[in-house]
Amino acid sequence: MSPLSVKAVLALAALVPAVLGGGIVSDPSVFASKCFDYIVVGGGTAGLAVAERLSENSNIVVGVIEAGQHLPNDPLIFTPALFGYAQSQPTYDWMLETVPQTALDGKVLEQPRGKILGGSSALNYMAFDRGSKAEYDAWTKFGGSDWSWSGLLPYIKKAEHVHGAVVTTPWNDPKTVDTSVEGVTGPIQVSYNDWYSDITKPYLNTGSSLGINLSTTPDNGNATGVYNCKMSVDRTTGRRSYAANTYHTIASSRSNYWVLLGAEATKIVTTGSNYKRDDASVASADSTDSTTTDSASRKSVTATGVTFKVGSKSYTVKLKKEVIVSCGSLKTPQLLELSGIGNKDILKKYGITPLVDLPGVGENLQDHVFVPNSFALKPGYTTFDILNNDPTFAAQQNATYYKNGTGIYAATHSAFAFFDLQTFLPQSTVNSLLKTAISEAGSAGPSPLEQTAFNIQANAIQNTDLGQVEIIMYPGHFSPTPAVPGTSYISILMALQRPWSRGSVHIGSNNATAPPVIDPQYLSNDFDMQVMIKACQFARKIAQTAPLKNAIASFQDPPANTTSDAAWEAYVKDAVEPVYHPAGTAALGARADGGVVDSRLKVYGTTNIRVADASIIPLEPAAHLQSTVYGIGEKAAAMIAADNS
Ligand SMILES: Cc1cc2nc3c(=O)[nH]c(=O)nc-3n(C[C@H](O)[C@H](O)[C@H](O)COP(=O)(O)OP(=O)(O)OC[C@H]3O[C@@H](n4cnc5c(N)ncnc54)[C@H](O)[C@@H]3O)c2cc1C
Ligand SMILES: *[C@@H]1O[C@H](CO)[C@@H](O)[C@H](O)[C@H]1NC(C)=O
Ligand SMILES: *[C@@H]1O[C@H](CO)[C@@H](O)[C@H](O)[C@H]1NC(C)=O
Ligand SMILES: *[C@@H]1O[C@H](CO)[C@@H](O)[C@H](O)[C@H]1NC(C)=O
Ligand SMILES: *[C@@H]1O[C@H](CO)[C@@H](O)[C@H](O)[C@H]1NC(C)=O
Ligand SMILES: *[C@@H]1O[C@H](CO)[C@@H](O)[C@H](O)[C@H]1NC(C)=O
Ligand SMILES: *[C@@H]1O[C@H](CO)[C@@H](O)[C@H](O)[C@H]1NC(C)=O
Repeated sequence: MSPLSVKAVLALAALVPAVLGGGIVSDPSVFASKCFDYIVVGGGTAGLAVAERLSENSNIVVGVIEAGQHLPNDPLIFTPALFGYAQSQPTYDWMLETVPQTALDGKVLEQPRGKILGGSSALNYMAFDRGSKAEYDAWTKFGGSDWSWSGLLPYIKKAEHVHGAVVTTPWNDPKTVDTSVEGVTGPIQVSYNDWYSDITKPYLNTGSSLGINLSTTPDNGNATGVYNCKMSVDRTTGRRSYAANTYHTIASSRSNYWVLLGAEATKIVTTGSNYKRDDASVASADSTDSTTTDSASRKSVTATGVTFKVGSKSYTVKLKKEVIVSCGSLKTPQLLELSGIGNKDILKKYGITPLVDLPGVGENLQDHVFVPNSFALKPGYTTFDILNNDPTFAAQQNATYYKNGTGIYAATHSAFAFFDLQTFLPQSTVNSLLKTAISEAGSAGPSPLEQTAFNIQANAIQNTDLGQVEIIMYPGHFSPTPAVPGTSYISILMALQRPWSRGSVHIGSNNATAPPVIDPQYLSNDFDMQVMIKACQFARKIAQTAPLKNAIASFQDPPANTTSDAAWEAYVKDAVEPVYHPAGTAALGARADGGVVDSRLKVYGTTNIRVADASIIPLEPAAHLQSTVYGIGEKAAAMIAADNS
């Protein structure tokens, strides 16, 4: 659209706002005066994918309610090498945190979540990868045959536009794209870095000598080995490619797509009730519900609108067809609970009338965690530390970035390795760790859904080469103690991929704008703790193996005197951080097993409330999540369109 026609549309919109419109609406009362076919709550990673795809049908009108602002021209959002800078700032981040974590001696951990159009896709570190085929096929145990590798792959592909390598990478990645597994027509631009640290090659060679093989095909269903992770970066501009400057931009030219920013949804307005106090017949109907069908004889809840707050003012907007909850794993359960959908005891405790007794809401919380291990390098290596150590070089690189979209500022770390426990532990140790995992998981009182996941996890440990541990190699300083000026580092972040600990997220009051109570129970299953300890010991072994060994000057974190079991455990407890992949809190699964949504992503006990975001993931894959979440958004949109046609 030319600037002239944009102006013309805006002028017309000002004259007849109720007829035309589209894009971002500034007046909440105008938004609230509409009656939308679909309301998407949360303009994040999955939410914007759902909204954009639904709005392709010009006969329906879609409204998006988003708490944050639209900031695509903010350097902290668009500059790849400045990842992490927008975190912990209220302009961009919900700034949630955990309750004190029991297994970490009461430590409280930050839980960053994008509060911005684009959601966490605006805040994330841009790694764009996916898990192994077996990990998605495992979802069929929860959501039926639609939720498998072959069921999700077309939608993961639909979201992405993958580009081949533009420079020769340390892996010799292909310049062409394998279109049998990678998408080339989607909105999210996915590319390889064009800048690499010279510590990468020695690191890769050491990895190979320790059994971590190079891969240039991590998207083909085998996501193990050490690979050059592609990034959600538009290589033509060197900028982050995320839900707001892709899906939203595409949809915003349509008059049937409306977004309200700075608006916090506080409740889904409904009619009907699926819950009768002390009604035994409802209770027994609940327990016989199947994965795919909601019992027709039971009364259901129907959403008729959404209440939201802008500042201190409340509004309610009406809807005709459906509400799609896409608030992310840490906020979706909160909105459901505030709307009377959740564990009846938790709802009653905070004075909320239960409408659907659904004890799985907010349970099954799982997340990846990592522990950094950093090593100072001998002089002569160029890492991201140069941006701090050499201001002249940094200024030159910044100028190049702003002129040309290239250089070190357009890059992020991309050497990721995924491997099984047997790569670094003897089978006897694996066996005894697994025994611990099973017995501790069992005594924590898992739901049937969680138990199904544990059975899959146990089998995977013994029989399948899946990523149990990931190494995120950051060529630069990334660890608890401050960098020594003038020094370059390699940081080897060991990340747990298939944790056995499960936590929860629930409301802690009926105050809709208060943060939820988040208890991930990090490292509470001793398997998780022991694997992290042993993985960190493996990181030290990597640093002590040639050729990388020849580049290392000294151990930074943990210090060299960390040698006893007690010292390693203390270090892990102190240094562990989340990878920011919370999932599973409104999981696909049978209602009786603790599932929250059925295979069509519809919330049990409701006729027209769906969830589309990372919360529906029943068992997290060994991968960073965004590509999978975009796929969930795309698949949800296709299901919603099909179910309403
Ligand atoms: C710091 C960080 C780094 C990460 N790094 C990577 C990475 O490198 N690679 C990767 O693949 N993944 C990464 N992830 C994870 C990935 O980004 C997320 O898993 C994914 O974006 C989650 O998408 P979602 O749709 O579930 O939720 P989100 O994208 O978080 O969307 C939720 C949206 O709902 C809005 N919202 C919530 N509640 C309300 C309400 N009540 N009313 C109105 N709006 C509301 C939020 O503001 C937000 O826009 C990272 C995440 C973070 C936070
Ligand atoms: C790595 O490659 C070697 C040689 O091809 C092979 O023997 C070994 O099994 C591979 N390792 C893993 C973990 O797949
Ligand atoms: C998966 O890829 C890795 C890395 O290339 C390789 O070592 C391994 O053998 C592959 N596994 C299978 C089952 O093909
Ligand atoms: C990079 O250059 C831009 C444009 O000149 C400027 O706005 C920005 O502050 C610079 N950033 C850094 C980190 O120097
Ligand atoms: C500008 O970018 C192009 C690729 O987009 C690259 O080939 C070229 O080397 C860059 N120029 C500078 C000065 O970095
Ligand atoms: C609700 O929570 C918000 C955010 O913590 C707080 O500012 C507000 O005062 C609370 N309202 C009430 C009535 O407690
Ligand atoms: C280990 O070394 C660090 C300094 O690197 C020191 O602060 C610490 O006290 C030492 N710990 C032990 C147990 O010796």
